[in-house]
Amino acid sequence: MRQARSKGKCESQREEGYTRPGAGEFDAVAEHYDYLMRTVPYQRWVEYVEALMARHNIKADRVLDLCCGTGRVGSELARRGYRVVGVDLSEQMVRHCALRDPPLPAAVMDACCLGLKDDCLDLVVSLYDSLNYILDPAGLQACFDGVARCLKPGGWFIFDMNTTLALASGLFAHSNRGSGEDLEYEWRPSYNPVTKICKVDMVFFWRGAGGPKKYTEVHYQRAYKIGELRRMLLRAGFGHLRFYHAYSFGKPNPWSDRIFAVASASR
Ligand SMILES: C[S@@+](CC[C@H](N)C(=O)[O-])C[C@H]1O[C@@H](n2cnc3c(N)ncnc32)[C@H](O)[C@@H]1O
Repeated sequence: MRQARSKGKCESQREEGYTRPGAGEFDAVAEHYDYLMRTVPYQRWVEYVEALMARHNIKADRVLDLCCGTGRVGSELARRGYRVVGVDLSEQMVRHCALRDPPLPAAVMDACCLGLKDDCLDLVVSLYDSLNYILDPAGLQACFDGVARCLKPGGWFIFDMNTTLALASGLFAHSNRGSGEDLEYEWRPSYNPVTKICKVDMVFFWRGAGGPKKYTEVHYQRAYKIGELRRMLLRAGFGHLRFYHAYSFGKPNPWSDRIFAVASASR
């Protein structure tokens, strides 16, 4: 990795008036993120990524876990023998990567201005709708451009995204209030079909070690149509694009709430 925080490109983007929303999201929840995600089948997700790799004959050694969060995906990939690093915008989330088994080397970095060496990776993976957090299409294009630059020629990019259906149909409406669990929460989503942005007001009540504590976060995700993603990926120089209904080899359909994209840096 060239540097822990990317600077030059981001600074010039700011000068051009580009701003990245979302800073601060995940900072409060970071401490309890792994507890919150304790039932998420990360191993099965990584198995699916490996199944996609086998299907597309992808061979990888050096891997980037883009928007790695607390490092669950990256650490699982490292356990399977890949040389993995992670980057994420939230310093609070990144701190947890060092505590994983195996630990995930990770840095605080904005996916929209990646400060990694050119041509240094075989595979970039970004899971759990992380890229929906990039609200500005110009930011997502900058992210795709950066990923294409960091990949070796012929390297691959695999990511998932929540679909419009997921964001518009209240997927984020969750509450376990009254459950008596250490962490109780209530999430209230509202979707704006004009901006395609889903705002989720989250309240958490922690009663475990060091508690009790109440905190709030507001998360924003944007829905991108497959056609939009296709155009952006092609513009970034990717080829061999395939989209899948999540966790299958079937095409996305009107009921897909999550899709996976597989793209080759075929420069
Ligand atoms: C839902 S979490 C998923 C984390 C991890 N991929 C996982 O599977 O557990 C989304 C992550 O995306 C990160 N994120 C959002 N916008 C980002 C950006 N512009 N650059 C880097 N990371 C970002 C957040 O900080 C958060 O850790």
